[in-house]
Amino acid sequence: MTARWPRVAVTRAMPGDALDRLRAVAEVVVWPHRRPPSPEELRTLAAGATGLVTMLTDRVDAALLDACPDLQVVANMAAGHDNLDVPELTRRGIPVGTTPGVLTESTADLAWALMLAAARRLPEAAAAVRDGEWVTWEPDWLLGVDVAGATLGIVGYGRIGAAVARRAAGFGMEVLAWNRTPRTATGVTFVELDELVRRSDVVTLHCALTDETRGLIGAAELRAMKPTAVLVNTARGPIVDQGALLRALETGEIRAAGLDVAVPEPLPPDDPLLSLPNCLVVPHIGSATVTTRSRMAGMAVDHVLAVLAGDPPPHCVNPEVLASGP
Ligand code: DGY
Repeated sequence: MTARWPRVAVTRAMPGDALDRLRAVAEVVVWPHRRPPSPEELRTLAAGATGLVTMLTDRVDAALLDACPDLQVVANMAAGHDNLDVPELTRRGIPVGTTPGVLTESTADLAWALMLAAARRLPEAAAAVRDGEWVTWEPDWLLGVDVAGATLGIVGYGRIGAAVARRAAGFGMEVLAWNRTPRTATGVTFVELDELVRRSDVVTLHCALTDETRGLIGAAELRAMKPTAVLVNTARGPIVDQGALLRALETGEIRAAGLDVAVPEPLPPDDPLLSLPNCLVVPHIGSATVTTRSRMAGMAVDHVLAVLAGDPPPHCVNPEVLASGP
C-alpha cells in the first residue's frame, strides 16, 4: 500500500516555479479563480489539507480551522498577516509563515512612485493630455509641490520604512520617523507622531495593521498636516480614517494622497475618493513585480515544504508553537 501524499491547498495561482516544487511532494489543490474564495469555498478547498497557502485576501479564523483538523502549517504570501487570526492558530499549535524581506525594495519603490506622482499631479496631467487640454506651455498650469529638499515623515520604521528613507537621501530630504518601539538610524530623526505630521511635507505609512495602528491617521492628524502635504499609504487601508481623508482632500486640508491600499479592497469604482483629482489610488500593487511576486510565492511554499519535511518554517510569526513541540 502506498502512503497518501499530504494535501496542500493554495488559494490562488502563483507566479514562478513555487507550485511545481510543491507538487513534487504533495497533492496540491489551487483555487482556480481570479476572485478569492468565499469563507465557505475556502473551507471546502482546505478540508483535509496539511498545508494551506493563503493570500492577504483570505481570512483564516476559528471557523476555517475547525474545518481543517489536519492542518500543520499556514503560509501567507504577504509580509503582513492581519488576515490571519494568529492567536487562534497559535492556540492550536499551527505555525504561520509569512514573506517579509523579499518585497521591501519593490514596496519602497511604489511608495516613491506614489509620492512623486501625487506631489507632481501626474494623474491630472496625464488626463489633461488625453482630454485635449494641453493647448500650450503655461506658467501656472498643473503646479505641484517639490519632493527634493522637502521633509519626509515615515510612519513605521521597519524594513520598508528604512528602504524608503534610503531613497530619500538621494533627494536631499530631511527624514523624520515615528515607530511604535524606539529605534535609531543614521540620518533619521525619530519624533512623536504629532510632530511628524505637523512638520512633514510628505507622510508615508509603513506600519503593520494592528489594534494600535487602526485609524492612526485620523481627522486630528490630517488637520495637523500642512495644506501642501502629501499622504502616501502602501501599508494597510484601515490605518487611515478614509472618511476623514476624503474630507481633508476635498477641503484642501492636505494637497494630495497616493494610496495603494484602501477600505474596502477592492475600492468600488463609485467610491468618492476616486472622483477627486488630488487622490491617486492603485490596486494594492506594492509588491507587484515579476521578481518579487515569484520570491514571495517561493518563500510561502518554502514554509510548507519545511513543515512537511519536519522542519520549522523559515520565517515563523508564532515561533512559540515550535518551542512547545508536538
Ligand atoms: C504584504 O505583503 O503585506 C503586502 O501588502 C502585499 O504586497
